[in-house]
Amino acid sequence: MAYRIISAAEAASYVKHGMNIALSGFTPAGVPKEVTPEIAHIAEAEHAAGRPYQIGVFTGASTGESTDGILSRVHAIRYRAPYTTNKDFRTAVNNGEIAYNDLQLSQMAQELRYGFMGKVDIAIIEACDITEDGKVYLTAAGGISPTACRLADKIIIELNSLYGTRPKGLHDVYELADPPYRREIPIYKPSDRIGTPYMQIDPKKVIGIVEAHRPDEARAFTAPDEISDKIGHNVADFLINDMKRGIIPSTFLPLQSGVGNVANAVLAALGSDPGVPAFEMYTEVIQDSVIKLIREGHCKFGSTCSLTVSNECLQGIYDDIDFFKDKLVLRQSEVSNSPEIARRLGVIAMNTALEADIYGNVNSTHVGGIKMMNGIGGSGDFTRNGYISIFSCPSVAKEGKISAIVPFVSHVDHNEHSVNVIITEQGIADLRGKSPVERSKTIIENCAHPDYKQLLWDYLKMCQKGQTPHNLHAAFGMHTALTKKGDMRLTDWSEYL
Ligand code: COA
Repeated sequence: MAYRIISAAEAASYVKHGMNIALSGFTPAGVPKEVTPEIAHIAEAEHAAGRPYQIGVFTGASTGESTDGILSRVHAIRYRAPYTTNKDFRTAVNNGEIAYNDLQLSQMAQELRYGFMGKVDIAIIEACDITEDGKVYLTAAGGISPTACRLADKIIIELNSLYGTRPKGLHDVYELADPPYRREIPIYKPSDRIGTPYMQIDPKKVIGIVEAHRPDEARAFTAPDEISDKIGHNVADFLINDMKRGIIPSTFLPLQSGVGNVANAVLAALGSDPGVPAFEMYTEVIQDSVIKLIREGHCKFGSTCSLTVSNECLQGIYDDIDFFKDKLVLRQSEVSNSPEIARRLGVIAMNTALEADIYGNVNSTHVGGIKMMNGIGGSGDFTRNGYISIFSCPSVAKEGKISAIVPFVSHVDHNEHSVNVIITEQGIADLRGKSPVERSKTIIENCAHPDYKQLLWDYLKMCQKGQTPHNLHAAFGMHTALTKKGDMRLTDWSEYL
């Protein structure tokens, strides 16, 4: 073998204060897990010695405990992009300790290539195999790995032997050229393969190989509850009705779905409904529910950036790899989330909101408009470009103290021009073809919780007339009641008259 086997500690010693590292993976899937804890040890030792030690971290999306958790707890992260879901990282961001650049996931690799975020010093890549001439076979995710390796001065490979070389056939590696040389991405159906099953790197850049034998740090999902089941069925009913009306072709259209319980419930509801033909996914994450649907024949094909599944589910895929090889493809995030492809294929985008306003603007990221929850992820890539863009969420949060439907969202991630449908357990607001005033009536009537309906109707009565009626003085009155009185139901509009 042309490469040196090195310890994780030696690999980490190349990462110096002020450097930027770029990691493989997307969600905890395919993220390196050996070297980053050793970087944390270095940070701790340097801080104990009174020396600064902080680095920039570039990833495909969220990672696992070994990256965002451990590194943020030892204050080793100066800058991080893009998406993350880690609680300790979130706390550090909201305390103002980490510079967090929350950007659309499709843009991460290209913004690195364009030089928007500075230099990539070292790429750390989890692989299941590497050849002497630099062919690297990735594990459970595409992420930003080819760009990370092309830009990095040096590369560290974590060779994870846990599943042997079984992930090998799943990937379709394709890196985009940059303007003015970029051409169309030649994907015309979710199952099209346009690249190579491996990533070509410069073998001279490889510092060494760190041996690993570990599963991904998969997140556990809580079982779907009554509310998420109801939302799931509402989404399924909406799509079936659209198919019956001829808006969605009878062959159906590829689905994109976010992560989480609601997403799982939606897919389960679609899979169990005899009215829905077997469908394809063109998405960024595939969860356990989709793997089940593929096994049952309800999902014909899944194009994704990552297998964000439980460890048992991943083991099952690799055990049955001959069955899955022609039913799954793993792509880089700039291809899986490409706005061009989402628009061309007519992807049905299904994402989750924290809050939506009566005109259809959606906040997916900022609690109370100020505190970061996770980030925008890939939701914007698909929402802006989908055939139909759906947002769903429970109508209330925190035992009813918070209404998900508000007069004005406290932060805008997806605006009224991109959002087609809002769905809660209360019902469905189809916003397509409607004016703002028509939208507000549909959203309040169909989606707001009964505890908040009258409050929202009353808000509309005190609005100044216009294309989008508002009372800017009172627009955040429900948020203010939550901050001051602990409950949005205690909003008193007379305070604003
Ligand atoms: N104000 C304050 N808190 C709210 C809230 C609101 N309007 N709405 C929900 N919450 C809280 C919930 O109470 C819950 O809190 P907890 O963790 O303390 O229990 C938390 O936010 C998560 O809400 P939940 O209803 O469990 O939804 P979820 O797990 O599906 O997450 C998002 C919802 C929006 C946070 C999540 O989907 C996300 O990060 N989306 C952005 C990225 C994205 O869409 N990616 C798509 C492609 S993967």
